[in-house]
Amino acid sequence: MAAITFGVCILFILANLSYADFPYKVGYYNQYVDHYNLMSYGDKVFKEKYLYQDKYWGGDGSPIFFYAGNEGPIESFWTATGFVHEIAPEFKAYVVFPEHRFYGESLPFGNKSFEQPNLGLLSVAQAVADFTVFLTDLKAYLKAPNSKIIAFGGSYGGMLAAYIRYKHPNLVYGALAASAPVLMQDPKGPHDFFFKHVTKDFRDYNEKCYQQVKSAFAQQIELAMQGPSGLDVLVKKMRLCDKITQDWDFRLMQMWARNAFVLMAMLDYPYETSFLGPLPGNPVKVACDTIMAQEDPLIGLSKLVGVWYNSTGSEQCYNVSREFYYCADPTGCGNGPDAIAWNYQACSDLFLPSGSDNVTDMFPELVWNTDIRREYCQKTFNITPRIAWDAEEFMGLDLSFASNIIFSNGNLDPWMDGGVLKDVSSSVVAIMVEGGAHHLDLRASNKLDPPGVVKAREQEKKIIRYWLNN
Ligand SMILES: *[C@@H]1O[C@H](CO)[C@@H](O)[C@H](O)[C@H]1NC(C)=O
Ligand SMILES: *[C@@H]1O[C@H](CO)[C@@H](O)[C@H](O)[C@H]1NC(C)=O
Ligand SMILES: *[C@@H]1O[C@H](CO)[C@@H](O)[C@H](O)[C@H]1NC(C)=O
Ligand SMILES: *[C@@H]1O[C@H](CO)[C@@H](O)[C@H](O)[C@H]1NC(C)=O
Repeated sequence: MAAITFGVCILFILANLSYADFPYKVGYYNQYVDHYNLMSYGDKVFKEKYLYQDKYWGGDGSPIFFYAGNEGPIESFWTATGFVHEIAPEFKAYVVFPEHRFYGESLPFGNKSFEQPNLGLLSVAQAVADFTVFLTDLKAYLKAPNSKIIAFGGSYGGMLAAYIRYKHPNLVYGALAASAPVLMQDPKGPHDFFFKHVTKDFRDYNEKCYQQVKSAFAQQIELAMQGPSGLDVLVKKMRLCDKITQDWDFRLMQMWARNAFVLMAMLDYPYETSFLGPLPGNPVKVACDTIMAQEDPLIGLSKLVGVWYNSTGSEQCYNVSREFYYCADPTGCGNGPDAIAWNYQACSDLFLPSGSDNVTDMFPELVWNTDIRREYCQKTFNITPRIAWDAEEFMGLDLSFASNIIFSNGNLDPWMDGGVLKDVSSSVVAIMVEGGAHHLDLRASNKLDPPGVVKAREQEKKIIRYWLNN
């Protein structure tokens, strides 16, 4: 039995390597700094990075597969979007992934990009405008007036893919928006779903896991109520590097712990991945098995969060303030400069989920709502969020005027409930990916794929083919 498992394992690693490394070429596009105010930056441009692969392309008339870069270096999306690379040859498609402004290398003001007022040029509208002029120029450069552009995107990138099809149907013929919570962008849309769904993912795997997690968070509160001696026990059991001396340290620790669950639920893929960070296959199962193997729920919680925070096994203790950046997105902003950019987006025009409540979810009550957010954003960036702007500018709850968009969502993905789950019309369709976490359908095929994603990819391919033939 062991030998067979080993054999399968080796095969899988080899298959994974050949799929993970989709080769690309790199280009830089002279992109306008500001599309909307000629008096501010005039024709000033910056270098927008893009990755492309032209070796499958059939020339004018063959499609252009465009991925709407989202909040990170574009290479990570290239690697995580194997589906597009796998289907490109049979469609004779040109594949191109432009990077989102203010992420990765595409910094309009170099290392001063995150200063004010420069950061103000980061917005959804500017990003969609970047893609619009980029694609227009690309078609001219390729001498491909008859090539249809199909947009792809996952998560926020999926929102951008849907938006560009909706706003510029003359340029983009259709869009596959995977795990794109577009309805959440409307103030009247859903916002209270996120931590509930994360909880469901863990509880569906095992009721005892859910109970243990709840006890662990409750034990933290009991220890905190005992004062400094209780907090010392907490720090020791949780293996934190630093003492907890203030309310804020305690709250930050709760958010840090909660964030490990968020990432494991989102990235609950059936095989080992390293998308936002390294994770084993089926991380929700691994995390639950980890906490359930411990007598003491709090020690179990410490080990559970380690599936995410200590995946390399090199952490002697957990440094909460280094590992978790408190920001305007309660589902986390990541780390480094990309996290500052995302925090700004979460403070300006994106409308993200609310906090956890310890009633509909298994987490401590960590309230996050529009009032708290406004206060935080005023303090952090001196701006007041415009929570309705993207719904007004792009897409509200009524999608009946849209066409040629596929909205796919995985039932394991906590973002699912912010997205379009029912067909809107014959050409705006919803595909449910049974057994799928966050945009699993965009990933390369894998031996461990659940049948639901194999089926979803077939459907998606069929619809794209239909668009291209009509
Ligand atoms: C910022 O960028 C400028 C120009 O590229 C460079 O000369 C400078 O050393 C950079 N500063 C830092 C702190 O990285
Ligand atoms: C991280 O993992 C290593 C290896 O399993 C372990 O020795 C170490 O104690 C872990 N760190 C924490 C903070 O739990
Ligand atoms: C934790 O990280 C912070 C910020 O990076 C650093 O200042 C602090 O020294 C670290 N604490 C320990 C105990 O390593
Ligand atoms: C959640 O609520 C229960 C019941 O009111 C309470 O006993 C428990 O301490 C709470 N847990 C947290 C983490 O707040």
